[in-house]
Amino acid sequence: MKNLVSLIVLVVLSVFSSSCEKNTKEPGYQINFLNDMVEPVPYEYYTENATFKNGVTAQTPPEGTIYRGGLVKGAEQNPVDYTKQVLQRGQFVYKNYCLVCHGKTGEGDGPLIPKFPNPPDFKSKRLLKLTDREIFDVISEGKGDMPGHAGQIEPIDRWKLIFYVRELQGE
Ligand code: HEC
Repeated sequence: MKNLVSLIVLVVLSVFSSSCEKNTKEPGYQINFLNDMVEPVPYEYYTENATFKNGVTAQTPPEGTIYRGGLVKGAEQNPVDYTKQVLQRGQFVYKNYCLVCHGKTGEGDGPLIPKFPNPPDFKSKRLLKLTDREIFDVISEGKGDMPGHAGQIEPIDRWKLIFYVRELQGE
């Protein structure tokens, strides 16, 4: 009987230890009894994949694919269609983020001025010549003393805001 118990213990121990064949000195070494949640179930990005003809999981996107948000970010001209609601949204964003410096009418006389350097008048000759893209980039990245707003304003709202800037410019 005693012999049988020690045999069972030996068998059980050898089964467990057989799953620990990896080098215990390797970084990330761990003992796994139940592997279910350790190995990922979906295909890994750079692994082989029998489902596709070329045998890899990472497929090249079809030609003309635009990454999410890419169209509104990379556009040269305002990709948003002008509507009353769009303009209202632009005005809302302007009041929240731009008015403090640029002022109610865009003349550069917001409540923060003159504690903050005077921004230029939106109606000045130079600013009237700015393209949509240039205004988009200034809003996103800032310029001189003006901070960038990429973190606060979604790309789509930046384009809507430009309609309102144009309105203040009298266009
Ligand atoms: C903290 C104050 C401040 C805020 C907020 C601010 N601006 Fe400005 N803005 C400035 C200053 C100062 C300049 C002048 C920058 C320079 O030329 O050095 C400027 C310049 C500009 C210009 C002209 C860029 C050029 O090419 O000369 C535009 C357009 C503009 N801002 C739009 C906006 C819009 C739209 C917002 C709202 C998202 C905004 N700004 C928020 C201070 C601000």
